[in-house]
Amino acid sequence: MFEHLTAAPPDPILGLTDAFRSDSNSNKINLGVGVYKTEENTTPILRCVKEAEKRLLEREQTKSYLGIPGIAALGKQVRTLLWGDRIDDERCGTVQTPGGTGGLRVAADFLAKRFPHARMWCSTPTWANHPSVFAAAGLDVQYYSYLGEDGTSLDFPAMLADLEQIPAGDTVCLHGCCHNPTGVDPTAEQWEQIARVVREKQLLPLLDFAYQGFGEGIDEDAFGLRQILSTCVDALVCSSFSKNFGLYSERIGALTAVASTPEAAAATQSHLKISVRTNYSNPPQHGGAIVSEVLASQELTDMWIEELAEMRARIRQMRTAFVEQMKRRMPERDFSFIARQKGMFSYSGLTRLQVDELRNKYSIYVVNSGRINVAGINEQNLRPLCDAIASVL
Ligand SMILES: Cc1ncc(COP(=O)(O)O)c(C=O)c1O
Repeated sequence: MFEHLTAAPPDPILGLTDAFRSDSNSNKINLGVGVYKTEENTTPILRCVKEAEKRLLEREQTKSYLGIPGIAALGKQVRTLLWGDRIDDERCGTVQTPGGTGGLRVAADFLAKRFPHARMWCSTPTWANHPSVFAAAGLDVQYYSYLGEDGTSLDFPAMLADLEQIPAGDTVCLHGCCHNPTGVDPTAEQWEQIARVVREKQLLPLLDFAYQGFGEGIDEDAFGLRQILSTCVDALVCSSFSKNFGLYSERIGALTAVASTPEAAAATQSHLKISVRTNYSNPPQHGGAIVSEVLASQELTDMWIEELAEMRARIRQMRTAFVEQMKRRMPERDFSFIARQKGMFSYSGLTRLQVDELRNKYSIYVVNSGRINVAGINEQNLRPLCDAIASVL
């Protein structure tokens, strides 16, 4: 049966981690996969998570199945993070999912089944897994303009013009904040215009919200999403708690459907439940229990907010330090855009050839598109990294 199969290509991002692991150079640097790193180059468990786990361990009585939508309390907590004070809970239905990716797949399966002729529109560029997940569910994936030709800023007129051309009933995938891979987000005013066009053209917004708290803060990062939710009637939101709770391996996220009426929300959730049931039956418990435990306690929530702020501050510091170091090496070139970009990633402007040279000559691992994970930079690797980048540029 399997003899004729040739190996599938490695994943463009996770495959890079495998290559990094097998590199024997002790000075190797991994700026590939999107995982937060401390100054000591570790990805530790957050203090609030450890404390929540301790409490859960003491209390836990059973490992029996969760219901299809997951932990009931978590749904409301997720929606509160999305909406803030202006929560319109009656019009929402949430299912707990294995990571943000699980939510994207459940959403895509739901759309492919209920709206088989609708297309999915992604930004150019977008997270490499978006088109793969959407296409795997059978959706026709199309693209709208996003990054300008300078490679460092949003081409907003082109983006808006493309959104205006999308046929009614199609879905637009928007990055809620900290756009991956570019780090380039719309301004508040641009979000207002995006929301208006999405509503006027009767498009369905699917907000991928994987980095809440990594840009400016929990509420600040939800500005665009809240603009969309308050302007448009229906929406889908995929939350991920991999990055902001550091729960990468626990696979915890959520998919929230927002509809015109409580009845429509309940009906939509019932379809999402079918999509869950036919994918993985019901979600794993542990990650969701941790997030719910933290958000149910003011003390743990305060701790979480503080830890998120620490992660955010470190990334910002590394952005500024990187720009300074590059300026010293290449004063004729402007790197200031790196300090302006949001979240973990930056489009460095490195070409494919330069990315290859970094890897082959210096054991520095960057995604082929030139995307760098700024959180992988620290005081120790900053100078050799900048030397190497200056040399390949
Ligand atoms: C834009 C975007 N969406 C979704 C995800 C999925 O995250 P998770 O690990 O929770 O599946 C990621 C992770 O890198 C991402 O960058």
